[in-house]
Amino acid sequence: MVKASAPGKLMLFGEHAVIYNKPCIVASVDHRISVWLKKRNDNQIILNAPGINLKNYTVLVDDLNKPYPRKIRFVLVAIKNFFEKYKMKSGLDVETKAEFSSRFGLGSSSAVTVSTIKALFELFGIEAEQREIFNLSYKTVLDVQGLGSGFDVAAAVYGGILFFVTGGKVIKPIEITDIPLVVGYTGVKADTPTLVKMVGRKLLEEPDRINGIFNKIKNIVNLAKTEIENKNWKKVGHLMNLNQDLLRELGVSSKELENLIKAALDSGAYGAKLSGAGGGDCMVVLSTRESLNNIKKAIEKAGGIIIEAKIPAEGVRTE
Ligand code: PMV
Repeated sequence: MVKASAPGKLMLFGEHAVIYNKPCIVASVDHRISVWLKKRNDNQIILNAPGINLKNYTVLVDDLNKPYPRKIRFVLVAIKNFFEKYKMKSGLDVETKAEFSSRFGLGSSSAVTVSTIKALFELFGIEAEQREIFNLSYKTVLDVQGLGSGFDVAAAVYGGILFFVTGGKVIKPIEITDIPLVVGYTGVKADTPTLVKMVGRKLLEEPDRINGIFNKIKNIVNLAKTEIENKNWKKVGHLMNLNQDLLRELGVSSKELENLIKAALDSGAYGAKLSGAGGGDCMVVLSTRESLNNIKKAIEKAGGIIIEAKIPAEGVRTE
């Protein structure tokens, strides 16, 4: 039996623009998803995931190409892609367990995919570099959901805080071990594909305006990289506010996000913005040490839920 676990993620800068060949900055979050794998002597893949009420869901190894419910597709397509690439085939017992709800938008799909791929390499005794784990996991995510820059996959594989360009063209760690962030959950589930498509439509309708926004976001991401490295939190916060202004212009913010952002800024935060596709999920705050408790209270008073998490976290690992 092998076990692997991978962290979740939070987008700090550059969402949406990163779909269009621009950089972003992503932080890994120490809420992990674990996957246990064991070989079976028959041709069945038996899945158990107590967190999503999945008990002994059985798939035949030769049926991995069939369509399955979304909640198990990431694991099954990861297995299919691994078997195809490494010319392997085996029955498997699979168990998954998440330390966080998939509702938060913290990257549960990418974390479960990366954990599964890492566990498969371990189970079949194949040495794999992080890049190979990234490539196979990113292919899996694209096979299942058809779009995505891969920033969430990179966070799950490498951990830490990453400067990332679309599809993994650049994956560079930003070497810091702590960053004073507060995470607030809106209680609303974001619909990432719909928002990404909406921005895509706007880009076709108003290419100059939207490309202008993307270029400004790119400049903010580049500045933020340096300011994070310098631990200049006041400047990082200011850049978050500028990034949020541009996301608002893109039309991806929401009433709930704006309420939590305002509450954080009114209680002394250096900066606050939505994190991810927008429309809901989480917002992220650059806080001062003195205002930390006030900011948390203000977010809760405005209807948000504080998500306590160690940021950054270690990337995928076997245990
Ligand atoms: O909604 P999330 O947390 O999956 O983040 C989406 C971020 C986008 O830039 C909009 C899409 C992507 O894959 O980069």
